[in-house]
Amino acid sequence: MTTVVESPEVLTLLTELTTLTGREDPYPRYARLREISPIVRAGDNALVVTRHADCAAVTRDPKLGHMPAHMLAFVGFPDWAEHPALQQFFTSLIAQNPPDHTRLRRLVSSRFTARRVQELRPAIEHMVGELLDDLADSREADFVGAFAFPLPVNVIGELLGVPKEDRAQFQTLVRDWSQVLDIITPEVLKKADPAAQMMRDYLTGLAAERRRHPQDDLLSALVSAEEEGDRLTEDELLTMAALLFAAGFETTTNLLANGLVALLANPGQLPALAEDPVAAVEELLRFDSPVQIVGRVAWEPTTIAGVAIEPGDRLVAYLGAGNRDPERFAEPDRLDLRRADNAPLSFGGGIHYCLGAPLARLEAQVALPELMRRLPRLALAGGAERRNSLTLRGYTKLPVTTREGK
Ligand code: HEM
Repeated sequence: MTTVVESPEVLTLLTELTTLTGREDPYPRYARLREISPIVRAGDNALVVTRHADCAAVTRDPKLGHMPAHMLAFVGFPDWAEHPALQQFFTSLIAQNPPDHTRLRRLVSSRFTARRVQELRPAIEHMVGELLDDLADSREADFVGAFAFPLPVNVIGELLGVPKEDRAQFQTLVRDWSQVLDIITPEVLKKADPAAQMMRDYLTGLAAERRRHPQDDLLSALVSAEEEGDRLTEDELLTMAALLFAAGFETTTNLLANGLVALLANPGQLPALAEDPVAAVEELLRFDSPVQIVGRVAWEPTTIAGVAIEPGDRLVAYLGAGNRDPERFAEPDRLDLRRADNAPLSFGGGIHYCLGAPLARLEAQVALPELMRRLPRLALAGGAERRNSLTLRGYTKLPVTTREGK
């Protein structure tokens, strides 16, 4: 049986991963952690797994779930319900257990099936074309502000029914709110609470508007589900809208930016991107995952990484580490857009498997090949700024030049 390793080196590695230097390139530290033991104990007692198979098991094991919101009071957040940021996250679909999770997910899942999402392809191609026209006209640009954020925010904004002129403000609001995915401190809440409250106030107004004048959008569908009876409360409606909107662009922005950085560092791979964008995007997801970490708590005894897990134990799966596990992937640190039998963990697994995976994949499959085709001289300009998060890996700023040498 494997033993859980708790050692000063483990604590140092885990702490380093929370720093800017550690986040710059977490992969050597993940590799070292995996070498030490497949399962280690963090300073806050959580059990951390780094192998592909164990990360997959953590996302899929039905004996693991999420801490119900009311239990947060017992783990250091007695006043969680008074914090809009915590309330909006911990009562959302992503943090629910069955049967509520099942009921809530069923309400929206039909909108995000691969077939339904493919219908959006022409609209996505059109948006990509327009953004690239603007990008091609500028010699220098911030790739995040000019492309990686506007594309997904406009796609999910159209789907949900958030008017175009209102979308830009959500970039900072969601960035501040989503800090609650990391270690929650009073400083984090100082920014996250007002951000979550502003999102809620905005969505309350928009839902009221849709109640008066329904449109052909997802928010109107949610409003009518609420009106039809006990399938959805108003709180649940607003929380669902906030989650869908935030999850709909935040992570896809990071996929596009991380993907671009990986492609520019491996120019020999560009023909493979054009030939098979589907395989290429799977590899970009694996190589530098926009979501690095997911957490669970045990309800019942189970076994993870060969270790007996007791009810109440907290588990953290380092998806970014599992994606580079040499037991699962040959030459895991090499970007290989033609990699066969790929299986990135980046969208999680089990009942919480990313609802938006088909949409995120489609956006990247359309956007990245077209970007490299239209702007073959695209280059990084220096001065990139990383997102201040352990869970969400990406950039807040990624300066590029588009016509180098012209
Ligand atoms: C759940 C990643 C894009 C909506 C998740 C989870 C991961 C993830 C890892 C599971 C979390 C867990 O198990 O605790 C990503 C990545 C994306 C992406 C890497 C982009 C590259 C999107 C998009 C949407 C979306 C475009 C738009 C609707 C959701 C929702 C959940 C979820 C609603 C919760 C599902 C549930 O709990 O049943 N995502 N996501 N995601 N994602 Fe995504």
